[in-house]
Amino acid sequence: MVLAAFFRQHIAQRQKTTDLALRECRYDALVIGAGALNYHTEDDRSYPFRSYHHFNHWCPARGPNHLLLIRPGQKPTLLAHMPLDFWHEHADLSDAFWLSEFEMKSFATEDEIWAQVKSLPFTAYIGPDKNRAESYGLKTETSNLLARLNWERSFKSDYEIKCTVRSTRRAATGHVAAREAFFAGGSELDIHHAYIRAMRCTDYHLPYETIVCLNEKASILHYQRKRDKTRMGKTFLIDAGFQYKGYASDITRSYAADEAPEEFRSLLSGMSKLQQRLCLLIKPGLSFEHLHAQAHSEIAHLLIEHDLIRGISHESAVELGLSAVFFPHGLGHMLGLCVHDVGGTQTDRTGAVAPSTGRFKNLRTRRILDAGNLITVEPGIYFIDLLLGPQKVGANATYFNWALIEQLAPCGGIRIEDDVLVTRSGIRNITREFLP
Ligand code: GLY
Ligand code: MN
Repeated sequence: MVLAAFFRQHIAQRQKTTDLALRECRYDALVIGAGALNYHTEDDRSYPFRSYHHFNHWCPARGPNHLLLIRPGQKPTLLAHMPLDFWHEHADLSDAFWLSEFEMKSFATEDEIWAQVKSLPFTAYIGPDKNRAESYGLKTETSNLLARLNWERSFKSDYEIKCTVRSTRRAATGHVAAREAFFAGGSELDIHHAYIRAMRCTDYHLPYETIVCLNEKASILHYQRKRDKTRMGKTFLIDAGFQYKGYASDITRSYAADEAPEEFRSLLSGMSKLQQRLCLLIKPGLSFEHLHAQAHSEIAHLLIEHDLIRGISHESAVELGLSAVFFPHGLGHMLGLCVHDVGGTQTDRTGAVAPSTGRFKNLRTRRILDAGNLITVEPGIYFIDLLLGPQKVGANATYFNWALIEQLAPCGGIRIEDDVLVTRSGIRNITREFLP
């Protein structure tokens, strides 16, 4: 089936689930805004534009100021902004593969677009331009509706899975090139360029700035620099994805050169197996918080096995927060149009929040997993000064093998991340299909 056919199904599903949500919240219609350009303060340059994610859920049209009008039982209307502008390209949408699913009307000015949604009966607006929407009589206190739309977002349609597969395939080509650039002795900047060049894209297609870390910088979870002087790294962590029609892939790999300490190389191999074991535990009905707890337990085991922690059981190491010193972030998150996608904390479509044991504050989703959810699985072990420092003088200091920690700290850390679709019988690990 071609993408357009998958898209047709996707829109039919959106129509059905959105009609239900509108009925439940007693709205007659819904307007979704793509959003406007945002400018740097006192400057005429704008920040890179990203369409509002719920707009993207319906429509892949790029660019600002479009509105979508969704009415139960009617074909959705795209009110497209086609300004008379000779500074920028405004793509002709007439041959877009998705256009036949919409009634499209084009307007040269924003005022003309907004005039189309003025004085509609009880109509909700979601998007970034709330003040303007209110001035046109649209309802913007929409938390009930948003909870339902966010909930539906967490069940991926076949179209969305196709897009995720394409975004993964592209990211995998970048990851392969990045790995080669690392083993060839490249700098962080070289590796970043190799990644982008292999994917044949610009920054526009990056779902987030690439995280490219040589050596000790791998201990900075979202390290943003690209050093050019440091080369011939001993260890390497890359966290980078691609965005296809708005759908993100989010992939992390860690590597060690032959010159890296043997202890680190074996820790990396242990972490690779651990990450795959965690992926295979996933099935519908599993609580992601439980999987996160399992990750802590396994990471504590690994730390003890490698003598980074000693004189304590793995249960107590987790209980005392020792595993969290090395693994301070959540095991994963929902993935989709947002890299950290919506709906992660809900237990149902009305927006009820998942009860928490309160043990893991940094966990971005505590969902009971269900078929159709797309999540990342990204355990890590890092040598982070800011977290290790206080332990040196704390009550648990004797449980840490400080000599070994000092020896491995220049290696930075390890994270391995796959994007996993929950299926009726278990999982489909989309990342491993392209990056074994
Ligand atoms: N890829 C960055 C993150 O998941 O936070
Ligand atoms: Mn991630």
